Amino acid sequence: MAENGMRLESGAAVSLSSGFIPFLSGASEIRGSMATQQKIILSGIRPTGRLHYGNYFGAIRHFLRLQEQGERCYYFIADYHALTTVTERQDFFQQTVDMLRTYVACGLDPVKSVIYRQSDLPVTAELSLLLGMVTNIGHLERGTTYKDKMSKLQEDPRAEGNPLSYGLLGYPVLMAADILIVRADIVPVGDDQRQHLEMAIDIAQKFNHRFGDILNIPHGVGRDALRLPGLDGSVKMGKSESNTLDLLDDPAAVLKKIKAVPTTTDPLPLETESNDPDVVLPKMPPGVGVLYRLLSLLASEDVYVDFLGKYRRGEKFYGTLKKSVAEYVSAFNVPIIEKYNDSANTEEFVKDFLRTNAQKVTPVALETVERCRDAMGIGHSLYRA
Ligand code: TRP
Repeated sequence: MAENGMRLESGAAVSLSSGFIPFLSGASEIRGSMATQQKIILSGIRPTGRLHYGNYFGAIRHFLRLQEQGERCYYFIADYHALTTVTERQDFFQQTVDMLRTYVACGLDPVKSVIYRQSDLPVTAELSLLLGMVTNIGHLERGTTYKDKMSKLQEDPRAEGNPLSYGLLGYPVLMAADILIVRADIVPVGDDQRQHLEMAIDIAQKFNHRFGDILNIPHGVGRDALRLPGLDGSVKMGKSESNTLDLLDDPAAVLKKIKAVPTTTDPLPLETESNDPDVVLPKMPPGVGVLYRLLSLLASEDVYVDFLGKYRRGEKFYGTLKKSVAEYVSAFNVPIIEKYNDSANTEEFVKDFLRTNAQKVTPVALETVERCRDAMGIGHSLYRA
C-alpha cells in the first residue's frame, strides 16, 4: 500500500508470500476470466523516456479505452527489449519510472489495469528460452527489424557500435513470450509490430503442434493505427527523429515548437469536398497537415471545419492557426502535467504499484511456464513454490 493512502490492491491479487502454490492460484484467475468471457488484452511499450503525441494517439488512448471497457488489461514496459540495441549503460529504470508517472497522469489506472515492468516478470525469459526451441532461425533472420539493422551495418560497418546480437535476433521470441505468458486473446499493436505478432502466433502454433494444446493463440487488433506525422512534417513522430510534441511540454515549449512547424508553402487547392482528415490532410503541405491533424484530434469539429474553410479560401491564416493549435495542445497538456507533478504521483508510488502488479501477473505467468515445462517433458520446477 502506498504511503499516500492510494489504494493499490485489487482483491484478485495473490501475493507470492501468501503460501499459495503460485501456478495453482494463477489457474483460478485464468478460469475466472474465462467464466466471465472477459478478454485478456496485452500490450507493451519500450521505455523511451518522455511520451509524445505519437505515443498517445498511437497507443495510450487505446489502452485507456480498453481499460474502460472492463477487459483484463495487461500493459507492460518492455525494458528487456530496450536492452536489445544498447551499447552502453542507459538509465532505463528512471525512464520507466518517468513513463509510468506520465501513464498515470494520462489516466491509466494501476488498479483497473495490470501495469508492470517486463523485468519484474523474469519468468518471461524462461518462457522465451523454451519457445526458442521451436523457433526457426531463418524465420528470425527474415524479421524486418533484424534485416534493417543488418543492412545498415552492411552499408557502414562502423555505423552503430552494436554488432548484431543474439538478443536482437531473438527479439520476436521474447515478444512471443510476453504475449503467450499471460494467455493474451488480443494484442493491440501498431503496424510496425504486426510482423512480430504474426511470428508469436506462428511460434505458439508450432509449440502446440509438437507438445499439445498448451498455448492460447492470440489475435491482433489494429489500434486503428494513427501514425502521427512529426512536427517537421516528416511521416512519423518519433523520439529518434527529434520532431516530437511531448505530453509534458509546458505552454511556452508548445508555442515554440508549434511556431517552428514549417508552413512556408502556400496552400494548393484540396480538390475534394471532404472534410475527413484522412482524405484532406495528405493533400496539404506536410507541416500544415500536422497542424490540421492536431486540430482534428484536439478541437471541436466546428473549429476544425472553420479552419479548413480558411484553407480552401486561400486566406492568410497560418499565424492564427498556429496560435490556436498551440492553445489546444497546451490545454490538453496542462492537466497531464499537473497530475504528473501531483504529490501522490511519486517515484515511490510508481515503485509500489509496480511491485503490486508484478505480484498479480506472476501467478498467471508461472502457470503458463509450468505447463510448458511439463508438456516438453522436463517437468514442473521443484524449486519454485
Ligand atoms: N516490440 C514492441 C514495440 O517496440 C514492444 C513490445 C514488446 C510488445 N513485447 C510486446 C508489444 C508484446 C506488444 C506485445 O513497440
